[in-house]
Amino acid sequence: TATRTHTVAFIPGDGIGIEVSAATRRVLAALEAKCGDFHLDIAEKDYGSLRYLRTGAYAPKGWLEDLQQYEAIFFGAVGHPDIEDHISLWQLILPIRQAFQQYVNVRPCRQIEGVQSVVAASSHVDWVILRENTEGEYAGQGGRTHVGTPHEVATEVAVFTRVGVERFLRYAFSVAAQRERKQLTLVTKSNAQRFGLVLWDEVAAAVAKDFPEVHWDKMLVDAMTVRMACKPHTLDTIVATNLHGDILSDLAAGLCGSIGLAPSSSLNPSRERPSLFEPVHGAAFDIMGQDIANPVAALWSACEMLKWLGEEDAAVRLDAAIHESIRRGITTADLGGTCKTSEVTEEICSLLSDA
Ligand code: NAI
Ligand code: MG
Repeated sequence: TATRTHTVAFIPGDGIGIEVSAATRRVLAALEAKCGDFHLDIAEKDYGSLRYLRTGAYAPKGWLEDLQQYEAIFFGAVGHPDIEDHISLWQLILPIRQAFQQYVNVRPCRQIEGVQSVVAASSHVDWVILRENTEGEYAGQGGRTHVGTPHEVATEVAVFTRVGVERFLRYAFSVAAQRERKQLTLVTKSNAQRFGLVLWDEVAAAVAKDFPEVHWDKMLVDAMTVRMACKPHTLDTIVATNLHGDILSDLAAGLCGSIGLAPSSSLNPSRERPSLFEPVHGAAFDIMGQDIANPVAALWSACEMLKWLGEEDAAVRLDAAIHESIRRGITTADLGGTCKTSEVTEEICSLLSDA
């Protein structure tokens, strides 16, 4: 008899999002059976591109009000070859982040035993990338006039508010303070972007005063790519704007072995509205429908979700089973393995039941 119940909305979405979400549900069911002290009350939602092609909308009317009732949201991926990416992104995933004020996006990135990584084995990469998740370059302001004429004008306005920057940086410093190395690197481009990102520098300096135990430094984003590739061991907590964080976290995933390993959490730290957990990768049209997508990014996202829900023991078990499956070489093609998505999933389920 389960003692704790958590309500979770599951949005598999599109492409391999559907495949890795199914794998995640299987593994979560095995974990629940093993632990026996918690229950996830999962409601699956068929929001996505197929619904859009059928009805003209990614989700039914009132969907955000509906999602609001859940404790957490698990998301697969969105995107369809016949739909422009800015439409799918702005109709499904970005409204959730903004409506629920999920202003911190957390993307841990580690070198994993058994995974071939391009960074030197001696470096021991263990980073957490924190990406501002509601404003900046993704604020949605801008427009196009004189469309299609030679004098067409398009603007894309990056919006930074003191409230938005401060709440995010405060959370980022608190994350760095809880980590062993207590080291934070602020990434901006405040030499060229002299308004919004100078505001970031100033707010960071003020917030840092409240976290004297955290050592911090600043990097311009271009130089940061080189430091991540060449001196990865000098970094710990990496803090960046919405766009810079998006790019740097893909680089981080690539450096550590595969985008198929990278989890992400979009958090509302106040817990007044649900937080969302999803793999960093997208719908991956090139491999969908073949049962070869790496389910680990989604599973690690589920692990982060369990921690957020207070199910620490379950999260530790799942994390251990994933590591063990990789150590045993039960891996998909992106990691050099020969296993199918379903085989990796079954291995992790049986490791959980045997543990
Ligand atoms: P992608 O992340 O879908 O794929 C990039 C490359 O990584 C592909 O070669 C893919 O096969 C590989 N890959 C991704 N996940 C993998 C996994 N789990 N296992 C093995 N290989 C994996 O990015 P791409 O191709 O730029 O975008 C495809 C679609 O997904 C687009 O419509 C894009 O807008 C959307 N997208 C959605 C996101 C979301 O839902 N949050 C995030 C990123 C992209
Ligand atoms: Mg991305």
